Amino acid sequence: MSTQSTMNGDTAESGYPHVPKYFFPTQQIPKLSCNDPLADELISQEKPVVLTDTKLCESALKWDLDYLANNMGNERYMVFVSQNNRFKYYDEAKMKQYRINFNPPTRRVDMTFTEFVKKLREWKPGDERVYLQQGLNNTFGRGIVLDFLQFNWQWLNVQQKKHNWGPLTSNLLLVGMESNITPVHYDEQQNFFCQLIGKKRCILFAPEHYERLYPHPVYHPHDRQSQVDFDMPDLEKFPGLDQLQGWETVIGPGEVLYIPMYWWHHIESLPNLGHTVSVNFWYKGGPTESVEYPLKPRQKLAIMRNVEKMLLEALKDPGEVGPLLRSLVLGRYSGEDALKEEGNL
Ligand code: OGA
Ligand code: FE
Repeated sequence: MSTQSTMNGDTAESGYPHVPKYFFPTQQIPKLSCNDPLADELISQEKPVVLTDTKLCESALKWDLDYLANNMGNERYMVFVSQNNRFKYYDEAKMKQYRINFNPPTRRVDMTFTEFVKKLREWKPGDERVYLQQGLNNTFGRGIVLDFLQFNWQWLNVQQKKHNWGPLTSNLLLVGMESNITPVHYDEQQNFFCQLIGKKRCILFAPEHYERLYPHPVYHPHDRQSQVDFDMPDLEKFPGLDQLQGWETVIGPGEVLYIPMYWWHHIESLPNLGHTVSVNFWYKGGPTESVEYPLKPRQKLAIMRNVEKMLLEALKDPGEVGPLLRSLVLGRYSGEDALKEEGNL
């Protein structure tokens, strides 16, 4: 699964063998104690940071496959099945709503945890891969609920208040096979991403890379996902890719990565190190702060999303959004001359 660097740029050495090399350079995300004032500052500025000692999920560091199998309960959980190691998320509701021509890259199969573990343990090269991604809820067994109650809620609540975030909306439990990849996308929530078992390499890009990562249109089932394929970047179709610069880190058990709202992220379970277990904490962003100009890149990103959504609402047909946007822009807001006339250059 190793890829050649296809454009210039030094990919920061992750220090782990067999880790794919991509075409963009990266810097390391700082790893800090949660008591370091710099960590607080980074979170306030909505910059990523790895916190090494939050004790956020100490009670869950024992959530290995056997423990989960014995304690999760007998419900069926959400498992994605893929022919390859990529698990690109898609929105099933959008698939039905707009009925555009779309072939989902993975299948969702709900199965019991025991069925899932069997697939994971018996996997051999050539077989379909699996990735369990299930929100924690009250159908989980008593053991899990008790562990959940032991999470470091005190620390979390302090963070939430200090950084003026909205409510906690959900906790996603992710149980993946080694080398599974969640391709680059952004979420509209703040995320404390907590690693429990195994190691994950996380590559992040600031929201201003919006214009280099070319998200699918908002009506598309792949809304919020980049169209760019890190294994086969198409520079002609996606100009500016050679300017892409990321941040990366490898997190292990007990470490918490803060993924700021609207930051792009690509997450891969390291090869040859067995399965991974993570749990995240998604929080709504804070109430709209007093507006200061110039707007932040992530505020502009939100505006662009809203414009797209309004057009879709007004036109109803997703097929009409592109043509309308093009006639709005072409020869008026496009090209260098137009930019000069607008006084923007
Ligand atoms: C997330 C996320 C993917 C993964 O927590 O927002 O994208 O594979 N996780 O861990
Ligand atoms: Fe995500």
